[in-house]
Amino acid sequence: MEALYRKYRPRKFSEIVGQDHVKKILMRAIEEGKVSHAYIFSGPRGTGKTTTARVLAKALNCERRQNAEPCGECYACKAIDEGTFMDVVELDAASNRGIDEIRRIKEGASFRPIEGKYKIYIIDEVHMLTREAFNALLKTLEEPPPHVVFILATTNLEKVPATIISRCQVLEFRNLPHELIVERLEEICKTERIEVTKDALMYIAKRSMGGMRDAITILEQVWKFSRGKVDVKAVENALGLIGADVVDRYLESILKGNMSKLKEVIDDVYYSGKEMDVLLQEALEAAVEKVEKGKIEYLQISKALLGAVKEIKFFDNKKIYTMAFSFDLAQKLAGFIPEQGEPQSVKTEEKDVSKDETALKSKEKEDLERLMEYLRNEGDLAVFVALSLADEIKVDTGKLKIVFPKEKEFSYIILKEKILELEDAVRKSMGNLDVELSITDGSKRAEEVKNRILSLFGNAEEG
Ligand SMILES: Nc1ncnc2c1ncn2[C@@H]1O[C@H](COP(=O)(O)OP(=O)(O)OP(=O)(O)O)[C@@H](O)[C@H]1O
Ligand SMILES: [Mg+2]
Ligand SMILES: [Zn+2]
Repeated sequence: MEALYRKYRPRKFSEIVGQDHVKKILMRAIEEGKVSHAYIFSGPRGTGKTTTARVLAKALNCERRQNAEPCGECYACKAIDEGTFMDVVELDAASNRGIDEIRRIKEGASFRPIEGKYKIYIIDEVHMLTREAFNALLKTLEEPPPHVVFILATTNLEKVPATIISRCQVLEFRNLPHELIVERLEEICKTERIEVTKDALMYIAKRSMGGMRDAITILEQVWKFSRGKVDVKAVENALGLIGADVVDRYLESILKGNMSKLKEVIDDVYYSGKEMDVLLQEALEAAVEKVEKGKIEYLQISKALLGAVKEIKFFDNKKIYTMAFSFDLAQKLAGFIPEQGEPQSVKTEEKDVSKDETALKSKEKEDLERLMEYLRNEGDLAVFVALSLADEIKVDTGKLKIVFPKEKEFSYIILKEKILELEDAVRKSMGNLDVELSITDGSKRAEEVKNRILSLFGNAEEG
């Protein structure tokens, strides 16, 4: 089956969504018979450059043009739509970069049109041409044969030589506003009888970042995947997205410094088979959106997430990176939120911990706190996070014994991998101790230990 975005390629100016300034200039030029010999259509992917070039080609060759609009019915209009019209030549410069192609165009351009009134050369991704090819093209543009119109399309205008640009009329295509994308998708859904919710279309529009082709492609993907109603859940499922609810929970636990919730959310995402980088990306988008709405407390998170989205690419273990990053950020941010009081450092946490922790003698406890503080501030964050998930940490017969429950084997493995870093941190903060890692079946007093960890880390909610 033909892809939806091809099927719904606009065939007239009136069907092209947005780009009003471009349409206005072109339509007036057509009506007044003052079409330029060379245009550059510059702008983002999938926003209508090739589409508009073809409509312009039709308007110039149509036998029954109405004002600026091609009729869509005559031989020329139909042949151009089908790509069989001899006088409209499309060249993809991304795959034909060399001088030979341009020479061929130059030769062809010197002859009169065969079928129509104008010869039209549409060169896509023109910035990809080689320097020699650009030079050859420049010669043609300097002495344009009559009855020839060049339309050079590019997503990277800055890569087109200034000498070329100065010979062309540059028309800039823009990303399309979400509302216009939603409207177009609604039309398509109506014709295709796709059952859809408005929220889902808005969601798709946001994901496509202003590109109409991407939006239509996503719609089609979700539709085929869900085989039923296209709603927000269906979009999330089809695209492996995390979803607004979960993302909000994630952001909120960072903002509140709620470590246990934070860990829970990350686990949820992980165990539902979704990707960690998608979580960070969606969190970034959501945070930026909140800042735009005036929620300035999300500014710090946005900045941090911006870095994390780039950084996570370099890590093999994306989960541990996400944990380390998120815990660290939450920890830092907890100090910035006024209603949470003073940022809590481990040292000020003397109060009730020892009562709960009969297993830990107070010297040991201090030593451990020093270790955690060291890891958090100067050491390896991955080690810090992994250690924070241990079931039990104690000093016993000259050894630091760290016990993980079976379900946290993951953290155990991380620590095994990073044993040198851990030993180094232990030496620096606790003195000469061997480290012993072990793993047990079943979670031993998991709740109690979780509480201890939370208090060690200064759970802002408790403060
Ligand atoms: N402004 C628009 N109005 C309506 N549909 C559009 C518009 N822009 C893009 N589309 C849809 O996206 C498809 C691709 O558009 P087009 O080929 O014109 O994009 P482009 O700007 O040339 O992109 P690229 O830079 O990737 O070549 C069209 O077939 C159409 O379905
Ligand atoms: Mg194109
Ligand atoms: Zn026509």
